[in-house]
Amino acid sequence: MASTPLLDRISRELDKRRLEGRFRFTAPFQPDDGIIDCSTNSYLGLHANREVASEAARLANGKLNGSGASRLVATASELYNELEREIADWEDTEAALVFTSGYTTNVGILQALCTRSTEVFSDRLNHASLYDGIRLAGCRLNRYRHGDMADLRKRLAASDSTEKLIVTDTVFSMDGDRAPLEDIAQLAQTHGAMVMVDEAHATGMFGECGSGLVEATGTAAAINVRMGTLSKAIAGLGGYIAVSSLLRDFFVNFSRSLIYSTGLPHPVLAHNLAAIRHIRNRPDTASRVLQTSVLLRDDLKALGFDTRPSTTQIIPCITGDDHKAVALSEYLRDRGIIAPAIRPPTVPAGTARIRFSWSTLHTNDDRLRIVEGLRKWKQRHE
Ligand SMILES: Cc1ncc(COP(=O)(O)O)c(C=O)c1O
Repeated sequence: MASTPLLDRISRELDKRRLEGRFRFTAPFQPDDGIIDCSTNSYLGLHANREVASEAARLANGKLNGSGASRLVATASELYNELEREIADWEDTEAALVFTSGYTTNVGILQALCTRSTEVFSDRLNHASLYDGIRLAGCRLNRYRHGDMADLRKRLAASDSTEKLIVTDTVFSMDGDRAPLEDIAQLAQTHGAMVMVDEAHATGMFGECGSGLVEATGTAAAINVRMGTLSKAIAGLGGYIAVSSLLRDFFVNFSRSLIYSTGLPHPVLAHNLAAIRHIRNRPDTASRVLQTSVLLRDDLKALGFDTRPSTTQIIPCITGDDHKAVALSEYLRDRGIIAPAIRPPTVPAGTARIRFSWSTLHTNDDRLRIVEGLRKWKQRHE
C-alpha cells in the first residue's frame, strides 16, 4: 500500500505504543478447561448458568434474529417492553430504557442531557464512555479528584453555571472502590445539581434486591439518572437507564445513539430478561462473591501488592511499570490463570496493574493457585 501522511502517522503511533509496552491487542480465545478465568465481568457466573440459559431459550422461543431497525422505527421484539418493565420494577423507578450497550447508553445520555451551558462535575476515574459522552456534548467539564468530596464541594461552590450535573461510576471499574453516594447526593441538593450514576459494576452486586449501589445506599431520591449495563453481572449485552417517565421521553427524543442505531437482537433480550429475573430470585448470591473477594484481596496485600482502595469483586494488583504488568499477566496465563494487564491510558501513568475479577465460579482452590502463582513471581522478579 502506498505511503501517505496519515498511514505514516498510524505506523508511528503504533511503534510508540509497542516501545512503551502499551500495545493493545484483542484477547485470544481461551477454551475454559482447567483455567481460572479472572478476566470476565460476569461476576455472578450467569454466562454459564443452565437455569438462565434454559429460561432464555424459552423466552426466545426459537427466534434468533436481530431486530431489523431502530427501536423508534420497528417493534421487532415484544421482549423489549417486558425487559424495560422488569428493570423499572427492579430499580423501583417509573420507567427504564434499554440501549445496545453500556457504552452507547453513556454516550447517548450525556450527549442528550448536556449543552454548552451545562457544567459536568466528573470523578477523574470515571469510565471512558462517560468522558466520550461529555466530549460529544461539548459541555463544560470540571474533573474532581477521585472520590474527594471536599474537592467536589469546592468546585461546585466556585461554579457560576446554572446547569450543573454530577457524574460518577458507583463502583470504579479499575480500582474496585465505591463512590460516596450519600455525600454526592447531599452536595447535589445543596448546589442544585442533577446526578447521573454509572452502576455498570454494581448492577446485580449490591442492594437487597441486587439492583446496585443506589439501592444499597438509599440514595435513589437524589439521583436523576441511574445507568447500568446488561453486559457484566447480567452476562448479556446492552445498557439501560432507570429514570422518571419524563426523562425516558426526553432520551427517546434526543439520544442519538438510541435513535440512529438498530435495537438488540431477540435472543439477547431473552437472556437479559432471564438473568435479571434469576438475580431477583436469589439476592444473596452477590454477597457471597463479595465475601470471598475479601480473602483474595487480603492475600494479595499479605504478599506486598498494592490493591488500591478496592472493596469489591474488582481487585487490582498494581505493578506500576507497564512492561511488568504484561509480563506478570503472561506468567499467570502460562499457569492457567487469565488475568488481564491494564495499562495507561486506561489507568493513570505509573499505575499499570493486573485486574482480577472475582465471581461465583471461583473456588478456594482457585484463590490458592492464584496466590501461589503471585508468590513465585515475586520470588523471581523482586
Ligand atoms: C463503568 C463502565 N461503564 C460503562 C461501560 C460500558 O459498558 P458496555 O461494556 O456494556 O458497553 C463499562 C465497560 O467496561 C464500564 O466499566
